[in-house]
Amino acid sequence: MQAMTRDIFKDYIQAIRPYEPGKPIKEVERELGLRHLIKLASNENPLGPSGKALRAMRRAIREAHLYPESTAHYLVERLAVEHDVKTNQILVGNGSNEILELLARGFLSPGDEVVSSETSFLVYPILSQACGAKYVGVPMASGYRYDLEAMVQAITEKTRIVFIANPNNPTGTYVTTAELEAFLAKVPQNVIVCIDEAYINFVEAEDFPDALSYVEKSRPNLIVMRTFSKAYGLAGLRVGYAVANEQLISYLHKIRQPFNVNSIAQAAATAALDDRFFIWRTKHLVSRGRRFFYKHFKQLGLEYLPSQANFVLVKTGCDGNDVFQSLLKVGIIIRSMKAYGLDTWIRVTVGRRSQNSLFLRSLRECLKRTDPK
Ligand SMILES: Cc1ncc(COP(=O)(O)O)c(C=O)c1O
Repeated sequence: MQAMTRDIFKDYIQAIRPYEPGKPIKEVERELGLRHLIKLASNENPLGPSGKALRAMRRAIREAHLYPESTAHYLVERLAVEHDVKTNQILVGNGSNEILELLARGFLSPGDEVVSSETSFLVYPILSQACGAKYVGVPMASGYRYDLEAMVQAITEKTRIVFIANPNNPTGTYVTTAELEAFLAKVPQNVIVCIDEAYINFVEAEDFPDALSYVEKSRPNLIVMRTFSKAYGLAGLRVGYAVANEQLISYLHKIRQPFNVNSIAQAAATAALDDRFFIWRTKHLVSRGRRFFYKHFKQLGLEYLPSQANFVLVKTGCDGNDVFQSLLKVGIIIRSMKAYGLDTWIRVTVGRRSQNSLFLRSLRECLKRTDPK
């Protein structure tokens, strides 16, 4: 291929380490000659989509020749009731990832800074760097928790956004109400604080903060994000949303695409909000699955992090990539944490009961065969 005569590529984009999604399941099955792989790698809902969402999708598909509602009108109305906020305080996105991207595009320029944790959602540094901003990943406090005090210290006059995943991915740890309140009191009002609550439906901790109530208390710089990809089982449809003050939401509306969320996704998400029983079943499954993992990790003598999300991080004592490969051979996909610098840790999503048992049996076998590190 002929090289470009002039270097048109931006250095700060060339320097990005791309996000590594897993290969398509069917492709891995074909390569390994296996059928029915178990995917416990992307924190999806093992129950599938809710029945109400499926019925709504079947109805919506008949109107697929029409453009979708540009502002996701009915979904926004339903969400406004759900959270007791005004409709102009809500923005729906093509996954919450799209809203993260709008924040980056809306607020970052080359030379700006973004503060978050060193061990958090990999999309935060990618989006920051794509805008030429510097990502300041603050080391975790003990217990692999966000160190909010150190993050306040890391804020400079160049800082535009702070990202807090609560609960955090990949650790499953969380920021408490007291910690968040102390943090918000110290953050300058001209720094956007994005609280990403992708896993909120799985939280059981009593001291977990009600971030939406701070939006109510008219914090103009606070934005809270949720997604339909996890507990609602709609990851493939790409729907997420943000709640914030009206001015911030209308600013982000200006830079989104006019039809950013497809009509089938809008219909499914609106219906899923009413499927209380499905959410209850999902929560119950995850809560039981987490306890099951803890019990067996303890028996195996493995360190793990108690999680408020639908996954658990566990230290295997072996190279995480080796454990990944070894489990893949028996048809189980998990995540190695090497990309985060946690070389011997893996992250496993809570699956159905039979999937969790099979994972544990296979892990036990795999650790017998793999060299410790
Ligand atoms: C912390 C966190 N935020 C956001 C997302 C993205 O969610 P969505 O599917 O809504 O783009 C994920 C997905 O894994 C996540 O872990």
